[in-house]
Amino acid sequence: MKNMFARAFVLAVTFAALASTAAVALPEYPADLFLPSTSCGCHGGLVAQWEQTMHSKALTDPLYLYKLEQANADTDGAIGPFCESCHGAVAMMAGEFATGEFSPQGGEGVTCSLCHQITGREEGRIGNNAIVVEPDGTMRAQFDDAVSSFHPTAYSEFHTSAEFCGSCHNVYHPVNGLDLESTYTEWAASPYADEGITCQDCHMTPGPGVTKPNPGVAAAGGPEREHIYTMTFAGANVGLGDAVLAEERLQAAAKVELETPEIVEGGSTVPAVVRITNIGAGHYLPTGLTDVRRMWLEVVATGPDGQETLIGKREFHTVFSDADGNSPADVWNAVAVESDDRIPPRESVENVWDAAMPAEGPLTISATLYYRSCSEEFAEAAGVEIPTTTMASVTHAVYTSSEEAAAATRAVPGAQSGNGLLLGILIAGLVVIVGILVFFGLRSRTS
Ligand code: HEC
Ligand code: HEC
Ligand code: HEC
Ligand code: HEC
Repeated sequence: MKNMFARAFVLAVTFAALASTAAVALPEYPADLFLPSTSCGCHGGLVAQWEQTMHSKALTDPLYLYKLEQANADTDGAIGPFCESCHGAVAMMAGEFATGEFSPQGGEGVTCSLCHQITGREEGRIGNNAIVVEPDGTMRAQFDDAVSSFHPTAYSEFHTSAEFCGSCHNVYHPVNGLDLESTYTEWAASPYADEGITCQDCHMTPGPGVTKPNPGVAAAGGPEREHIYTMTFAGANVGLGDAVLAEERLQAAAKVELETPEIVEGGSTVPAVVRITNIGAGHYLPTGLTDVRRMWLEVVATGPDGQETLIGKREFHTVFSDADGNSPADVWNAVAVESDDRIPPRESVENVWDAAMPAEGPLTISATLYYRSCSEEFAEAAGVEIPTTTMASVTHAVYTSSEEAAAATRAVPGAQSGNGLLLGILIAGLVVIVGILVFFGLRSRTS
């Protein structure tokens, strides 16, 4: 009872403060200072890419809408404008959330003419959508020689920087300042920042990884360029984003290694060392909304009879707690991080798990890393299908004796004929080499 009162009190203070602070820093601008993506006809290829992205779906995304509803219900509507200002800046500046009537551009979430009229960021902490927008019709990007008869163009160094993305990809609690999403900060502390590899290089190239140069034409009738970026913003959202691109990125993000002995005595313990390395993500793995994302390792031992035993599991995500110490807390109630188990860029985590060796082998041990954008319960509540993706998997067989191992190798017909073929090629090769040596040996002796 006392706790409940304390919690209600803290929340009241929190959200009263929110209502009076400038949680939404954006100025007011009419929607017609922005264009819908349908008017970017000269950039047809880029428009088709962007349509598949989470940026284009930022306001219609069922997972977002479900969380927004919960957040508003929990805070008497105080938090909604904070969410909407970042997921739908154009509609926010045009006052469309107040009327509920959306212009085409306002309903497009993070749209072309928003990003290309951003000129910089506010001084201070990077994040919480502290972007500076100058909707004067000039489209800004990385080229200093772009010419268009439809709109003025300008070179923008800001667009080539990770800070451009960081303005929205760092989210902290608008009242208590707690870091809720820190993708930019994670990147800035990573070796990728030192090497000058930006968000754009991984998320706006054909990839996975950095695919530069990517030659092409940025606009119909424009010059052939050495390198253009794609408007794909491919991440990890297999269920709602571009499934093919998201899957490719997830499968390039991590390496899973497994070490086991090959032969152990029946009845003894088999140590399985599992190491996961974040080889492909320029930030922690996973990143972003990591209280919602699900990434986990399962280590399974399968006996000769097909019986499976889960011998190890590790979940990689963030758990927040609220003012009463309850967890998991939703981001809007979060006051502290209770736990945060994720993998920094280019770093590894390692665990040793034990399996019981049966009297007779083989015992097959597999280590598999999985990812889902959210839990099954959340997906079901929001009415969407979110698949589980296998990011990486390794399997080893363990035997009780070298005879058992040899028998198992022989039992695999592919392995045997493969080895036979290889041996044949080796022998043929040797015969040819010896033949050549003998031939030249004889020749040099006769001459
Ligand atoms: C999230 C912000 C964002 C959105 C949304 C976005 N762009 Fe871009 N765009 C960029 C950035 C950043 C660059 C420059 C990247 C760099 O140089 O590192 C860029 C580059 C470009 C370029 C220069 C040529 C090229 O491909 O590199 C064009 C043209 C362009 N965008 C058009 C569009 C169109 C059309 C849309 C909508 C269909 C769009 N952009 C959506 C951020 C965005
Ligand atoms: C104006 C704010 C804003 C800017 C600027 C911005 N983003 Fe985003 N981005 C978002 C929002 C909001 C989402 C989430 C939309 C959703 O899932 O509902 C998102 C989603 C994404 C995703 C998809 C994540 C997934 O789960 O698949 C990627 C990747 C991404 N952004 C990359 C970038 C990159 C790279 C840049 C810089 C060139 C950038 N963003 C700039 C707001 C922004
Ligand atoms: C070296 C390449 C690389 C760089 C640099 C990089 N990323 Fe990523 N990013 C990835 C890969 C691979 C994934 C997929 C695995 C994952 O979810 O982390 C990813 C995933 C994401 C996601 C989706 C995370 C999720 O689970 O929903 C977002 C959002 C994102 N990146 C934004 C950014 C931003 C913003 C930057 C720059 C501050 C950036 N990335 C820099 C490679 C990179
Ligand atoms: C400053 C920008 C910003 C603010 C404010 C913000 N978000 Fe987001 N949101 C993002 C970005 C960036 C992502 C993508 C991160 C990732 O992929 O993990 C995202 C992703 C999400 C997702 C995951 C969508 C999916 O399809 O997986 C949900 C749900 C969400 N936000 C809800 C909210 C709610 C509710 C609020 C308000 C309490 C909010 N957001 C406030 C930037 C923001």
